[in-house]
Amino acid sequence: MWMNDPNGLVFLNGKYHLFYQYFPDANIWGPMHWGHAESTDLIHWKHLPIALYPDKLGWIFSGSAVIDKENTAGFGKNAMVAIFTYHNDEIWKAGNKNTESQGIAYSLDEGKTWTKFEGNPVLNNSGEQDFRDPKVFWNDLIHEWTMVLAVHDHLQIYSSPNLKNWKLESSFKPENDIDVGTWECPDLIKLKVENSKEEKWVLIQNHDRKAPNGGSGTRYFVGDFDGKVFKNSQPSIWMDSGMDFYAGVTFGNVPNEKKLMISWMSNWFYAQKVPTEVWRSAMTLPRELSLKKVGNQYILKQKIAENFNKILTPLFSAKNVNLPFEKKVDLSQVEIRFDVKNPQNNFKIEFSNAKNEVFEIEIKGNQLTTNRSKSGLIDFDKTFAEKPQTLDLRNQKIINVQLILDQSSVEILLNNGEFSFTNLYFPTENYSIFKLNSNQKINIKNLKINKTNSIWKNK
Ligand code: FRU
Repeated sequence: MWMNDPNGLVFLNGKYHLFYQYFPDANIWGPMHWGHAESTDLIHWKHLPIALYPDKLGWIFSGSAVIDKENTAGFGKNAMVAIFTYHNDEIWKAGNKNTESQGIAYSLDEGKTWTKFEGNPVLNNSGEQDFRDPKVFWNDLIHEWTMVLAVHDHLQIYSSPNLKNWKLESSFKPENDIDVGTWECPDLIKLKVENSKEEKWVLIQNHDRKAPNGGSGTRYFVGDFDGKVFKNSQPSIWMDSGMDFYAGVTFGNVPNEKKLMISWMSNWFYAQKVPTEVWRSAMTLPRELSLKKVGNQYILKQKIAENFNKILTPLFSAKNVNLPFEKKVDLSQVEIRFDVKNPQNNFKIEFSNAKNEVFEIEIKGNQLTTNRSKSGLIDFDKTFAEKPQTLDLRNQKIINVQLILDQSSVEILLNNGEFSFTNLYFPTENYSIFKLNSNQKINIKNLKINKTNSIWKNK
């Protein structure tokens, strides 16, 4: 049925929990529940019963989960506590704006069964439309919980000693901000800068309508956080420039403070119309985030969770490939990776089938462009293939490429994850021809095509 945002991402007792926006009664958006899945390795997921159901206060919109190690809320030591948005459709239909408030619920059995707090809502709306998607973490700087909340066109930061009483500490909106649509699903994380002792805070911010290629998208700010106020130090950067990467947030409570992120692979422009039936939408592969300083800019890097490598079986590999290159292979579940020996930003990648349906990725000059206008089913919504999608390569040469293809999606990572680009497509039969082309002399080292749906090797 219907799924959108990942919610309540949290690690506990060896398991990663993925809750998500779920409507069990139809394959379109409706009264929201939290669905639930768990995994020990981030790659194989087990479906579990629905975690949170709508109640008289409203539908259960997006939010996060924490492990309350010190029992600050009084629900029990190590309780899993979900902090979510109540969306009240009746208030909405009556034409009022204060439709959204924050509620909490707790689980003492690793997220299987939940009890809603009788004092809900814990954070009431002051009358703003769009007041949602709380991301909560334990803040060592103030020895309290911190909540980042998306409020219409800005961010609010709250603190609480017990997850029940919240105090507004500050607001954030960059000066002269671009118009990006409603702010949704924020996340605030601390990362070490690669090869240095420096630490920076990254504010991940989702926007529903006006990402560069149209519709939903995720950008990030890098700056400093004193425990109460976030100070931005550089213009925002889009985290993934494809049209199908949204509402991404990170897991809490992960050992060694690893920052692992999952995003929803769709776009509000057409999410409810994509041509699938029994299910609608999938998540990206989990990605580990890191921060790198390039010139005077901090860049967020994304690496597919390490365990992914364990499900790969080699299908094809070649050491020195001159373009053009073509290989017939079922592309419905593969990973393709290669390095460019003489980088010069001039090549084209194509996935196609015998019906001449083709998905194109072109790297030319300072730009990556994807084109899905001939990729298969596209007519379900005009925004889906209306224009090519582009990514500015920030004057960098592309030195390596990783492509992870599933039946109806590709996750593109370039230069060790410094660029990310995610796209859906719907060929009417599997893509089965992989082509690499260039009108210059390009040499590819280490071309590898791996199958991704093999059996787990360590079990
Ligand atoms: C983002 C979003 C959230 C909201 C949820 C509703 O995709 O719109 O802001 O909580 O989805 O399903």
